Amino acid sequence: PRGATRSQDGALNLAGLDARDLTARHGTPLMVIDEADFRSRCQDFADAFGGAASVHYAGKAFLCSEIVRWLADEGLSLDVCTSGELRLALRAGFPPERIALHGSNKSDAELAMAVQHRIGAIVVDSFHEIARLAGLVEDRASDPVPVMIRVTVGVEAHTHEFIATAHEDQKFGFSLTGGDAAEAARRVLALSGLRLIGLHSHIGSQIFDPSGFEVAAHRVVGLLRTIVEEFPAAADTITTLDLGGGLGIAYTSDDDPPAPDVMAKSLIEIVTRECQLAGLTVPAVMVEPGRAIAGPGTVTLYEVGTIKDVTLDGGLTRRYVSVDGGMSDNIRTALYDAEYTVTLASRSSDATPVLSRVVGKHCESGDIVVRECYLPADLAIGDLLAVAATGAYCYAMSSNYNRVPRPAVVAVSGQGTGGSAGTDGAAGGATDRVVLRRETDDDL
Ligand code: LLP
Repeated sequence: PRGATRSQDGALNLAGLDARDLTARHGTPLMVIDEADFRSRCQDFADAFGGAASVHYAGKAFLCSEIVRWLADEGLSLDVCTSGELRLALRAGFPPERIALHGSNKSDAELAMAVQHRIGAIVVDSFHEIARLAGLVEDRASDPVPVMIRVTVGVEAHTHEFIATAHEDQKFGFSLTGGDAAEAARRVLALSGLRLIGLHSHIGSQIFDPSGFEVAAHRVVGLLRTIVEEFPAAADTITTLDLGGGLGIAYTSDDDPPAPDVMAKSLIEIVTRECQLAGLTVPAVMVEPGRAIAGPGTVTLYEVGTIKDVTLDGGLTRRYVSVDGGMSDNIRTALYDAEYTVTLASRSSDATPVLSRVVGKHCESGDIVVRECYLPADLAIGDLLAVAATGAYCYAMSSNYNRVPRPAVVAVSGQGTGGSAGTDGAAGGATDRVVLRRETDDDL
């Protein structure tokens, strides 16, 4: 997090709060989210993309009522992909007109809920969905339901196979090359109860190379041109090109992701130039960052429970450091070979760094949190470890595997930041409060 420092005796401080105090109050494992960090990343995207409304935070990265309130407060829009996320957003008071609903298999109930609450856009993903929507919006000709079309732009994103989404051989969107995307536009435009407001592309996640987004922008503008040639009136309603989420973040010091403003500049330039050349009104460029907003500002604090040295082939030793969470609160290492950075959080140490692997408490050997790291030789039972950049897709993908309760999530704000009520602890103006309580045996 941007607000992380070390106290004089070397303990990690988050927004001015000592990791030892935080875990003494809230237990471990503990996910600590720095409110100022989260909000400042919202602002970075808002500044880059010409206003907060153009930035749809992807709720799938991490959503709870408190986050919804921060987003509403920052003026962002919100991308949800299930009725669960939609309901949470609405119950926390998020304005429906700033919500877009995604999903490759939305149920009738989810579509009906979106229509009934008059949300900002439904992003249609299949011909079946358009047909199902047709039945739901027969009486909405005077107040048509806003729709975007999800387009498969045929970009091979350089990321893990499971999180790349714009190549042809996967489940999302309408193919551009196969002509399905243009046909989807025809079918939407034929329904008076729907209003085609935008085209949407999402090429994948944890992407560092901006060229994939640029190719996507170019191809989506091409589709816009095709649609407007056939349906000139559509030029007035298609006011948005949504280029999805996917901007990567640094999990290790080797990672060097582009900044939002660098990405925005080139995308807005491409869309503006190509639309002007084609004589099209220039639509607004929107994005849907999840990881890049939620990821960096959270750390997970674990307590060390067991340390075991294992001799490897060649005589090297690997130290297995077991912590009190694991793949139930962070499955990304096991699922995507994700890399994380870990640091001793409860004190400083000058001891020699030892090749280590941080593992969890679950009953399988794939339960790895940090595959390869160096931790001080004097690491001891009861020490706290902090794993960085766990704000996106960790709690969101958490489970109760082995009947392990989910950890608490605590929001910390330094002096002068934040503004939410309710404080569990305070130190020098910094506050911490539980935004998701730790699960209990009764919950299980
Ligand atoms: N928009 C759409 C339509 C998406 O499908 C996604 C992510 C996003 C936006 C946000 O992408 P982001 O900016 O967060 O990269 N569980 C995986 C990531 C799956 C992403 C799914 N869709 C992981 O832990 O890496």
